[in-house]
Amino acid sequence: MAEQQPAAIYLKDYQVPNFLIDKTELTFDLDETQTIVTSRLHIRRNPDSDQQTSALVLDGGEDVTLIAVAIDGYTLPKEEYRFQDDKLVITATPESFVLTCETLIEPQNNTRLEGLYRSSSMFCTQCEAEGFRHITYYLDRPDVMSVFTTTIIADANRYPVMLSNGNEVERGTTEEGKTFVTWHDPFKKPAYLFALVAGNLEVLNDTFTTMSGREVKLQIFTEQHNIDKVDFAMDSLKRSMKWDEEVYGREYDLDIFMIVAVDDFNMGAMENKGLNIFNSSCLLASPETTTDDAYLRVEAVVAHEYFHNWSGNRVTCRDWFQLSLKEGFTVFRDQSFSADMHSDVVKRVEDVSFLKTTQFAEDAGPMAHPIRPASFIEISNFYTLTIYEKGAEVVRMIHTLLGEEGFRKGSDLYFERHDGQAVTCDDFVQAMEDANGVDLSQFKRWYSQAGTPRLTVTDQYDQATQTYQLTIKQETPATPNQPTKLALHIPVKVGLVGSDNQALAFTYEGEQSDEVVLQVNDHEQTFVFENVAELPVPSLLRGFSAPVKLQYDYSTEQLLQLMSGDPDGFNRWSAAQELAVNELTALIVQAQKKQALSTDTHLIEGFKALLADKTLDPAMVALILALPSQAYLAEVSEQIDPHAIKAARKHLREVIAKALVSEFKGLYQDNTVAQAYQPSAEQIAKRSLKNAALGYWLASGSDEAKAAAVRQYRQADNMTDQFAALNCAVHFDLPEADELLAAFFEQWQHEALVVNKWLMLSAAREQEQGLDTVKALMQHPNFDIKNPNKLRAVIGGLGQNVSAFHNLDGSGYAFLADQIILLDKRNPQIASRLCTPLTRWQRMVPALSELMKGQLERIAQQDLSKDVYEVVSKSLA
Ligand code: TRP
Ligand code: ZN
Repeated sequence: MAEQQPAAIYLKDYQVPNFLIDKTELTFDLDETQTIVTSRLHIRRNPDSDQQTSALVLDGGEDVTLIAVAIDGYTLPKEEYRFQDDKLVITATPESFVLTCETLIEPQNNTRLEGLYRSSSMFCTQCEAEGFRHITYYLDRPDVMSVFTTTIIADANRYPVMLSNGNEVERGTTEEGKTFVTWHDPFKKPAYLFALVAGNLEVLNDTFTTMSGREVKLQIFTEQHNIDKVDFAMDSLKRSMKWDEEVYGREYDLDIFMIVAVDDFNMGAMENKGLNIFNSSCLLASPETTTDDAYLRVEAVVAHEYFHNWSGNRVTCRDWFQLSLKEGFTVFRDQSFSADMHSDVVKRVEDVSFLKTTQFAEDAGPMAHPIRPASFIEISNFYTLTIYEKGAEVVRMIHTLLGEEGFRKGSDLYFERHDGQAVTCDDFVQAMEDANGVDLSQFKRWYSQAGTPRLTVTDQYDQATQTYQLTIKQETPATPNQPTKLALHIPVKVGLVGSDNQALAFTYEGEQSDEVVLQVNDHEQTFVFENVAELPVPSLLRGFSAPVKLQYDYSTEQLLQLMSGDPDGFNRWSAAQELAVNELTALIVQAQKKQALSTDTHLIEGFKALLADKTLDPAMVALILALPSQAYLAEVSEQIDPHAIKAARKHLREVIAKALVSEFKGLYQDNTVAQAYQPSAEQIAKRSLKNAALGYWLASGSDEAKAAAVRQYRQADNMTDQFAALNCAVHFDLPEADELLAAFFEQWQHEALVVNKWLMLSAAREQEQGLDTVKALMQHPNFDIKNPNKLRAVIGGLGQNVSAFHNLDGSGYAFLADQIILLDKRNPQIASRLCTPLTRWQRMVPALSELMKGQLERIAQQDLSKDVYEVVSKSLA
């Protein structure tokens, strides 16, 4: 461990800034070896601060070298400033002044990918959350909002495109013959929304006419060889702009909106004002190189970043504890957008499945935190599934409680009231309350309480009085630093299903209905339904109306009934999942006891009925057919045994496959798309069902299926089908697997994003010496340690590779720990994220648990970044 352990900062210690920066003027003299940044900051004391001090403390980074600093033109001598950690302290300042600061940075040596850095041949920035301080000294906090003017100077031969936020206002030639371009952004913004890009880029131009009739110029920039892959992103952008006008009444504000794709990027994308920067994996799409899933991701991320222009930029966060204010809300908005573009139910199932697999695991682990954390050591560690996905669920619950119209009234008030401000989650809820005249004070506990609540539901039916009662108990397990939990306000959407598979009408609180949202707000409550004609099967938590774990003792027959008859499509999927989890749980126990695996056939019956129903959306059928993932089964396991989980899944899959082999073959043949590739809901649905069917058909052991898979690989004209076939060939270890993998690489070696798919699949392949393959991949000429996508591909692939990663000799965990230690020196954000699998050590079966813990302890002995230190120390606490 480092000598001096990094300290946590606390929400309760928040204070307004002592100084404000009204205007920020920046000049970047870009160069391959050294870049000079000159800032002119128009600073004054903050009248709202009770700390009236003349000492100015500016944030900086160890990679920023100060050349000179001046106040109102007077260059400060050494005695008038000092450095304290990475901060620049100026001992005395006037009430208001212009601070000029000249700094030297080396973007070419910036491997952290925050601040100004190089990706391929371009310069680009990433400033959220605290990257701006790696560019120059500044008040790098989101409640300091400033009007930015940025001048970029560079050699126009190498960097013909020079971009920053806002509008281009000037362009010319310097005395040294370089080109300069000046950008001005009229909207006040925090430094985390600053962006700069310079490079030799191609552009796709388009326009959008806003609802008030203004024409906005739209531009997407990429390196030359990728410009043919941005049409879909442009189309997604225009649809997002229209949707935000129609659904939220939000119009775009600048005259130009730009997006740039970069290859080296820590996250998905960034909503910088007027100049979004994207990981190329979230922007580029073409039928030949991009799967359906990746198309949907491009659409969702383009929308997400665009929506931030209001939920994040026009109204921003006061401090980073409020991160979910912008992220939870914006994820909710992009989820709703995607649902409107495609299918509601399909989108909901995908989102919930993701949440229950990943966020629930986080909430049950050592890093558990509320959507508004009370403290953190390193904010980069809090761009989490909890902040994003659970945050979106909390906003969705408000939407459920207030209804579509009430929610819109609330969001209108929020945007109006706080336009141009940096605000808190409380302000958001307050606007929702004020616009609707409701009291959400108990509901607000969702913001401060971590952990996934568990609802236990029991029921009682009285034939004589035709009353049906549901008793609901809620309980939230303890999480780090939160031993006791309060009762939450939880909306639980419920319907009743009758024996004829029809919705059963009832009277609830005097009103007749067939669906109701129960207001659960106490530790235990009973809800009474009257005029219920027969003993119903309860359909609980429809549409996943709250992010909770629900426990009701369904019989297998009841689950089968809901699976085929619940009018709520989401709960049909939910019932199928529960049935599968029950069967798999039994199989996992058998596998652990080294017994012969045997299972009953209920799921087969259910699937048979499902496949007979030709009215269903093929995408829903595919989702229902998908067995709970390895990761989800781990999440619901008391103690995680990855080897037993793998064996159980394989067994159940084979049993189902053999029982329904002709059905799967039929599905495979019936769901071929004859038309040219389109990323449309209809085609995506068919491909997903076809490829799901192929997996089962192969699992039956059929030779015909093997031939079909190889044929599909060779004939595919789109990446979805090509990769699905390759994936099958590899996972079912077909004799052609090696040949096809090699051919795939050969064909796509010049398409970086496709190579990443190859890296991932190769690393995930279960083989005798799987770990050696992974090690070799990291030496492959197409691998690049600088590129987070490639790292995620290989390490992510390894994570799915049960025999290599969870090897009982501990070699998989040791290898991961080696990579974390190595990478922490280069890119702490990425290193910290790679720790996630090890943080689950306490939930693993003892043999694996000890091995994981040992590796965490080994990491803890190193001199670590704040990022990795926080995750590792909390995991071992
Ligand atoms: N605000 C970005 C989003 O849209 C998140 C993000 C992008 C980010 N890059 C980052 C966060 C780098 C931390 C570090 O969700
Ligand atoms: Zn976001």
